[in-house]
Amino acid sequence: MRLILSVPTNSEHDAGDTGDTDGGIGEARVATIATSAGPTRAAVILPYEKHPREVSREAGSVRLADARLAEAVGLAASIGVAIVHTAIYPLRLRRPSTLMGEGQVEMVRKAIEAQGVTIAVVDAALSPVQQRNLEKAWGCKVIDRTGLILEIFGERARTREGALQVELAHLDYQRTRLVRSWTHLERQRGGFGFLGGPGESQIEIDRRLIADRMVRIKKELEQVRRTRGLHRRKREKVPHPVVALVGYTNAGKSTLFNALTGADVFAEDQLFATLDPTMRAIRLPSGKTIILSDTVGFISELPTQLVEAFRATLEEVAAADVILHVRDIAHPDSAAQRADVIGVLTDMSEGPDGALDADWQGRVIEVLNKADLVGGTDEVVPRDADAIAVSALTGEGLDRLRELLDARLAAGVETATYKLAPADGASLAWLYQNGDVIGREDGEQTIDITVRLSAADRARFESTH
Ligand code: GTP
Repeated sequence: MRLILSVPTNSEHDAGDTGDTDGGIGEARVATIATSAGPTRAAVILPYEKHPREVSREAGSVRLADARLAEAVGLAASIGVAIVHTAIYPLRLRRPSTLMGEGQVEMVRKAIEAQGVTIAVVDAALSPVQQRNLEKAWGCKVIDRTGLILEIFGERARTREGALQVELAHLDYQRTRLVRSWTHLERQRGGFGFLGGPGESQIEIDRRLIADRMVRIKKELEQVRRTRGLHRRKREKVPHPVVALVGYTNAGKSTLFNALTGADVFAEDQLFATLDPTMRAIRLPSGKTIILSDTVGFISELPTQLVEAFRATLEEVAAADVILHVRDIAHPDSAAQRADVIGVLTDMSEGPDGALDADWQGRVIEVLNKADLVGGTDEVVPRDADAIAVSALTGEGLDRLRELLDARLAAGVETATYKLAPADGASLAWLYQNGDVIGREDGEQTIDITVRLSAADRARFESTH
């Protein structure tokens, strides 16, 4: 359901009240596109404000706006809607009633009507009033950036803590919408406010229900956090090393995940594939099996009320033996994105109940993706041996990545000797598959087997066999 997005440089419409002629985003940029996903027809509208990161007024604002739109389209596509229309509108003034200018609202309305759109995703934070006014003006459902991200997190939260954290954020979002819509209604009724009226008591009840539910979730979250250590020990019992993909949304995590897993379907995979489509088993050149795990992408300018929920979706990174940090090196904001990812992971390792071990940095491999867009992998100079240039799209560099994974997982290899019962075929098979067996003596009572294993595999073997 991914798409290659092309946004024409000329607008279809004259952008009336949008003029700003500094060589950056000065005009509306409108496109009609089609994705193969879902039956619901959606439009993605980006009201674009200059980003504080844009130092020069001319430099890069068109590229940044396009990158930002591509991100929003990618996010919207991941909730299974067909995106049939996209547009970028320069935002010069934040109108309290509709955020965008009157002329812009009308242009969007026409496009929505012409394209039969039933959901408009506005890539901005909308107040409840703005959301409602736009819904009225466009005659379709409107969701803003926070609403969209909440949808995605809701679908992807895997741990109990993640699901609770997302629900909490969702309720909080709903609650403010209820409260404000109530005051808005009251204001509309003017002098008749004292009459109360239909809706008011229902909203009161809803608010109380939401507040009660939030209290219960917070209690449950505390309980879940207390037992987190226990869960992590359980996860260590997965019989293979886990390699987690992290990175910005649109960096190419899913493409890399599919490229690495594509040709590699074998029995063990089914267990994970049915449990969770974002976990797959693959075999490295050495014959070693690993579990590859995709995560929710980082999102630029994540609304602050969603930070906790997002972190909760990253929980499996904590249990990973290797963290593949996938970067889009062709993105205009690539360096800042890298800093963001490292910042979030650092925070996760520093908190009072730090979900991530302090030594996580030693487990990161930086994957400099989309090398094809900058002239191939030879044109990209990785900063050190822990980084590698690839193109998930063309497959260039993926063999070297697999070898690097093998080498990394073999680090800290030591020799160990185990005494196994002759009937313990499972342990024997595991050691042959995951280690390098260098000696074996078959006795009557025991098999003494000497094997070279990484520290992580030793711990894994000793806790599971
Ligand atoms: P989320 O699932 O939203 O977090 O995004 P993601 O990181 O999984 O990115 P995804 O794999 O969906 O790729 C985003 C876009 O980048 C898609 O249009 C891909 O086709 C494109 N893409 C991914 N890898 C490459 C690459 O190596 N080169 C080029 N040119 N495009 C790529």
